Amino acid sequence: MKKLAVLGSGTGTNFDALFKEFGSQIVLVISDREDARILEKAKAAGIEAIFEKGGPDLCSRILARLEGIDLVCLAGFMRLVKEPLLSAYEGRLLNIHPSLLPLYPGKDAWKQALAAGASETGCTVHFVDAGMDTGEVILQERVPVLKDDTPESLHARIQVAEHKLYPEVVKQVLAKLTS
Ligand code: GAR
Repeated sequence: MKKLAVLGSGTGTNFDALFKEFGSQIVLVISDREDARILEKAKAAGIEAIFEKGGPDLCSRILARLEGIDLVCLAGFMRLVKEPLLSAYEGRLLNIHPSLLPLYPGKDAWKQALAAGASETGCTVHFVDAGMDTGEVILQERVPVLKDDTPESLHARIQVAEHKLYPEVVKQVLAKLTS
């Protein structure tokens, strides 16, 4: 059975969705924020949960923790991934982003969509490269922007789509890794 690690900086709702689908296949959660809810959630689920503070060697320290891990899923991990992690996990490092990339990369993509007056946005799962939300797109899900949307209501609607899309894509990528 392939083993997964999840990296996150925040609330961990995408971790919840992945855990629901993959359960004990997720063996490790790493966060760059000591107080991140994702770490609490991982501990509560009986998964090893590690805090790695930021710094120039963050990606080396993360890589050193990934022994035996087949696939790494970024879920709200708000840092750029660098070497040596990038090369070590090429094709096995995924990210979810709350927009239809290449539109609205970076922070608070749902606010960017509202500010642009978009009638539609969505979410994207992509392979990670050295850029910010620039790697090869695997799959996207569209989400409408409604007339009365606030940043919160729009992000909540995007997250419903994320929680469906991410496990689906991870399943596809795992199937390819196995074959
Ligand atoms: C998600 O909406 C994810 O797409 C976004 O952070 C949120 C994390 O929520 N990621 C990015 O913006 C990456 N550029 P979660 O901690 O509840 O999964």
